[in-house]
Amino acid sequence: MTAIGIHDLEMATGHHVVDLAELAESTGVAPGKYILGLGQSQMSVLAPDEDIVTMGAAAAKPLLERNGTEGLRTLLFATESGVDQSKAAGVAVLDLLGLPSNIRVVEMKQACYGGTAALQAAVGIVARSPQERVLVITSDNARYELDSPGEPTQGAGAVAFLVSADPAVLEIEPASGISTTDVDDFWRPNDSTTAVVDGHLSVGAYLDALTDAWNDLQAHGGPSVEDIDRILYHQPYTKMAKKAQQRLREITGGQISTALNPGDEPDGRDTGLETSSRYNRRLGNSYTASVYSALVSLLDYDPGLEGRRIGIFSYGSGCVSEFLTGIVKPGYLERRNPHRSENLLDAREPVDIPTYRSLHTAPHGTSEDQVTPRVTSGPFRFAGVTGRARRYETC
Ligand code: COA
Repeated sequence: MTAIGIHDLEMATGHHVVDLAELAESTGVAPGKYILGLGQSQMSVLAPDEDIVTMGAAAAKPLLERNGTEGLRTLLFATESGVDQSKAAGVAVLDLLGLPSNIRVVEMKQACYGGTAALQAAVGIVARSPQERVLVITSDNARYELDSPGEPTQGAGAVAFLVSADPAVLEIEPASGISTTDVDDFWRPNDSTTAVVDGHLSVGAYLDALTDAWNDLQAHGGPSVEDIDRILYHQPYTKMAKKAQQRLREITGGQISTALNPGDEPDGRDTGLETSSRYNRRLGNSYTASVYSALVSLLDYDPGLEGRRIGIFSYGSGCVSEFLTGIVKPGYLERRNPHRSENLLDAREPVDIPTYRSLHTAPHGTSEDQVTPRVTSGPFRFAGVTGRARRYETC
């Protein structure tokens, strides 16, 4: 059987960054709640001329420059912060990247799980036509109401990856565990620019979904916990990954370490909880991109992954989840520039709390004609709206 999986991947984020200790102090919250209680130190915030399209295109650009576009016939754009009810955000990306017209483009949605649905659909397309490659873009702008419990778990980011036969980075294995339950833990109604969330319900729903997906993985011949070397989780905030690891430990009896913070004493086998959370700790929640940002982080900071099996738990509120596994390919390090994503995070421009609050409350996602101020340092920008349609340009 042909090996299929992730051939290469890249991350992007927004122009601004908010320091969570400053956010805590501004509202009289102890900074430890955000930094240790949630495991978050910063969150990315978009400039007015950025959105999911500009971030997604920024992530895909270096990926395609490195790998070319040969065999590319599908672009799957996964997001839960869509900018239009009808047109796929990926169509604008196709234009910004100068891609040819003979590429099918579609948007996929199921909260933070959408990227994994796109990955599995891409694997299916490549299984049928192994000469084809699929570009998957996960891109989201996580927005909760100001002064709500979700506020410190906002963020923004994108990860783009190429799915191909004989992948250079991660071969996806056939068995996976799936779980879907209808639950009102988190959603964004059509007339709202922020999510409606019952945070504590969502934590419980996530953990129950993990149990169910894990049991389904076992029922479908998946590996035991002892046969999984590293484990990645969807990280709405990095402490959630620790809670998930604790749950997996309980249900499997596996002696896997739940140490999350740098310097924490391991209480079992290290499965990469700390190394896979370094970027998300600084990005904040990037919804569909979150678990793939965890993958980028692991690949960038763990030099010993060749031949190792990685477990990936993807969760999207509502809720749909999947536990899948993949094997890291020999030579994967040749694809990685471990400083690229770190440099992107370092290069963000800090904003103080009043500025962040005014960015948050500025009109968002309206279709009224407008010209956006030129702020972003990224390669693409959202230029404004004319004739009720969003306009993008290369910087
Ligand atoms: N120092 C260290 N830790 C502290 C602290 C302090 N000063 N003060 C509080 N904490 C800890 C709490 O003990 C708690 O830890 P625990 O989860 O291990 O019990 C953690 O900080 C969070 O505190 P909590 O009171 O539960 O926070 P909250 O009620 O304000 O909300 C969320 C937390 C996650 C529910 C909220 O941020 C949210 O709704 N987020 C959006 C939804 C989401 O991300 N869901 C995840 C699943 S998809």
